[in-house]
Amino acid sequence: MSPSALPGPAPHEVQAHRGASAIAPENTMAAFRAAAEAGAKWVELDVALSADGQLIVIHDDSVDRTSAGSGSLGELTQSEIAALDAGSWFGQDFQDERIPTLAETIAALGELGLSANVEIKQHKHHKSLDQLVGAVQTDIAKRSGSTEIMISSFDPEALRAMHALEPELEMAMLWGRPPEDWAGQLAAIPATTIHMHYKALSIGMLEETDKRGIKVRAWTCNDPVQLVSFWDAGLTGVITDDPKLFLG
Ligand code: G3P
Ligand code: CA
Repeated sequence: MSPSALPGPAPHEVQAHRGASAIAPENTMAAFRAAAEAGAKWVELDVALSADGQLIVIHDDSVDRTSAGSGSLGELTQSEIAALDAGSWFGQDFQDERIPTLAETIAALGELGLSANVEIKQHKHHKSLDQLVGAVQTDIAKRSGSTEIMISSFDPEALRAMHALEPELEMAMLWGRPPEDWAGQLAAIPATTIHMHYKALSIGMLEETDKRGIKVRAWTCNDPVQLVSFWDAGLTGVITDDPKLFLG
């Protein structure tokens, strides 16, 4: 069966993971452009603080894996990070890509007509949760009218602090597997959404979340067949490295 013949998410529920990271280097402008070109309306991206307190769009706590440089975010300033080649590791065509700030990414997403799922990463070098969520609040305030923002994190404290600042934003708790007391943990944030590893999905849980009005998106799934049985049970969306797989 071709992907287009499968049941699937609405186009606005396909989120490109770290941008379209199967097509271009993750968390770069090239990956965000590729997501828009593939027809995605949302990108997922990761943020963390540099040594001088700027929010950087990067997954790891060091630049080693996704750039030609090396060093931990806690030791590098934003301008040192911005000078690095963040594309050659993925392919020579991408050697001009840079590690962007959240502020410049938010501005670019507006021009691309994209919305953002901002995943707040908690790293050892982060000294203050207030500084972290305050920086997120400042940068997302620069979004244009067409760009929607939602927040996700593996850290419930980050979601709780962010919710206190921005109560209108959708908050998504990230779990590899749901804890037994998942409903209580969501209510304590409070969060309305679960982002769960696709291998931990179950029809029973989706029926329960659906009944309670809780959204569930699956990460990081690059095989539409894996989700076929979950859409009718109430799965809301998917976070994927290659949005074309789900958008046909
Ligand atoms: O949003 C889900 C996914 O991004 C979480 O895992 O490690 O890719 O940030 P990771
Ligand atoms: Ca992420």
